[in-house]
Amino acid sequence: MSGPNKNYDPVEVTPLHADEVERTRDEALDAFRTAADLSALQEAKLAHLGERSPIALANREIGALPPQARKEAGQRIGSARKAINEAYAARLAVLEAEHEERMLATEQVDVTLPSSLLPGARHPLSLISEQIADVFTALGWDVAEGPEVEAEWLNFDALNFQPDHPARQMQDTFFVEPAGSGTVLRTHTSPVQARSMLTRTPPIYVICPGRVFRTDELDATHTPVFYQVEGLVVDEGITLAHLKGTLDHFVVSMFGEGLEARLRPNFFPFTEPSAEVDLKCFVCRGASVGNPDRPCRTCGSEGWIEWGGCGVVNPRVLQACGIDPERYSGFAFGMGLERTLMFRNGVEDMRDMVEGDVRFSRQFGMEI
Ligand code: PHE
Repeated sequence: MSGPNKNYDPVEVTPLHADEVERTRDEALDAFRTAADLSALQEAKLAHLGERSPIALANREIGALPPQARKEAGQRIGSARKAINEAYAARLAVLEAEHEERMLATEQVDVTLPSSLLPGARHPLSLISEQIADVFTALGWDVAEGPEVEAEWLNFDALNFQPDHPARQMQDTFFVEPAGSGTVLRTHTSPVQARSMLTRTPPIYVICPGRVFRTDELDATHTPVFYQVEGLVVDEGITLAHLKGTLDHFVVSMFGEGLEARLRPNFFPFTEPSAEVDLKCFVCRGASVGNPDRPCRTCGSEGWIEWGGCGVVNPRVLQACGIDPERYSGFAFGMGLERTLMFRNGVEDMRDMVEGDVRFSRQFGMEI
């Protein structure tokens, strides 16, 4: 190898005189001392300690010297090599430490810098759930909760679903393994009704928001995991009129003044009579009905929006839960929170509620 790099030029070193050894050593020490960084040091190492460096070549020549000169040359060259090696190691330690320090400084995270990330936000389902709880706690009701993995008996049997009742299949249940464990992922919040009746004594006034599960495919209007809110009252002299009044108050609190609920006959095993709860369309307030000039997208010009289910608590349920149906009566209602949010805030696709994109949540306020 030859070329402009003087480090690789063949060097006349045989036999190396004392002053030449010293010069070679001083050049090496100088090169190491002035190496500005690790890569410069590696280059200097190759030149001054590499296989073809003057000191290495000199070392190799010792054997060719006449015996009487060998010892003296060996000592001279040996001590020069030692000095060169030490100088290299010393500089290496300094440069490595500097490098480390620089890395630490440049990789330091300044936590005081403004963040480029979006701030988080409460999920609108949490907000609406708390808002509903506030409406009812203001009336003196309690918030009740129950487990998501629920006893089949509480999810169905206590609520008057017979073992072969078609409604049991209607619910499209996730059964918890092993088969026959008697455990399901609750399909509605109504088992919290049963739990409340079993653990409290009337008068009972509870609101129960919670997550429920059905084997639906995820699409724009279904999700296999969703939220409901259940209301239950058990007291003396409770009638359908109390249910209607309560729902009207609920509608106004959620959707605005001047709105009301409508009950449409339906069937649930745990209420009798049972009804669907419709709410007066909060956009057109019924003005679109029979009025083709003013169509309403929100209610499809029906004037009403289907919201949830309700009814007077079936005496069989009171009995199953240890409450005397001769003395007490009650009402219950339940609705989906996603559906409520869809109506109220114009959310068109349920998937937005499950995907966890913070930009979606931020639209509803309450940043954190
Ligand atoms: N649990 C019913 C459902 O999920 C709703 C409901 C609750 C109906 C309370 C009546 C009374 O469809």
